[in-house]
Amino acid sequence: MDHRLFFPATQRNKIYIGDVLSKIPLKEGFVLEIGSGSGEHGVEFQKRFPEIIWQTSDPELEHRKSIISWIDHEKLNIKMPKPLEIDVTKTPWPISFKLLETLQVIISINMIHIAPWKCTESLFKESGKLLNHGKFLILYGPFKIEEKHISETNELFDKSLKIQNNDWGVRNLEEVDKEAIINGFKQKQLIKMPANNLTLIYKKVS
Ligand SMILES: C[S@@+](CC[C@H](N)C(=O)[O-])C[C@H]1O[C@@H](n2cnc3c(N)ncnc32)[C@H](O)[C@@H]1O
Repeated sequence: MDHRLFFPATQRNKIYIGDVLSKIPLKEGFVLEIGSGSGEHGVEFQKRFPEIIWQTSDPELEHRKSIISWIDHEKLNIKMPKPLEIDVTKTPWPISFKLLETLQVIISINMIHIAPWKCTESLFKESGKLLNHGKFLILYGPFKIEEKHISETNELFDKSLKIQNNDWGVRNLEEVDKEAIINGFKQKQLIKMPANNLTLIYKKVS
């Protein structure tokens, strides 16, 4: 059965996020994606960066089914592992020793604002334990800077998130940076992306 889901924003942003990733010195090994959603990013980046192994994950069964269908559809079964069931708050995450040994990057795209704040805390805490010195944690999404939205559309989006769930919301950059520091990361780069999003690249420094 074809369980592929299609996320319009994902189709729009995958090229730009891929361009950012292309500038990161990725050695052979694993990239672990948290909250992979439909899997459209996963297959796109696996094709674009054949030197790495793209490990997807998502807590939702419907999303993991979609990821498997996307992997089948793109005939990437030999290269790409099946998605892991990772909920960032349920630690330790179920990852193999093989993945851990060569883990280069943990990336989470458009997740932390559509989840309670404790998910951001847990993402940094667990990533801080898993990533070695010099490796990267990458976040993509909308952010506030000094508590201010960077566009009117982000402000409206934030309101719509809070109507759905009061624990969701566009995160403040400075608070995210604070989590990074607590867990041994330093913000290496902030990249402005189309549609008022940011990519934040954190490097493990301790
Ligand atoms: C807006 S979707 C983004 C999906 C995908 N990254 C993309 O950009 O197309 C947010 C994703 O975060 C996942 N998510 C929500 N809470 C999570 C948690 N506690 N741990 C891991 N992933 C979570 C959801 O299941 C969903 O797939």
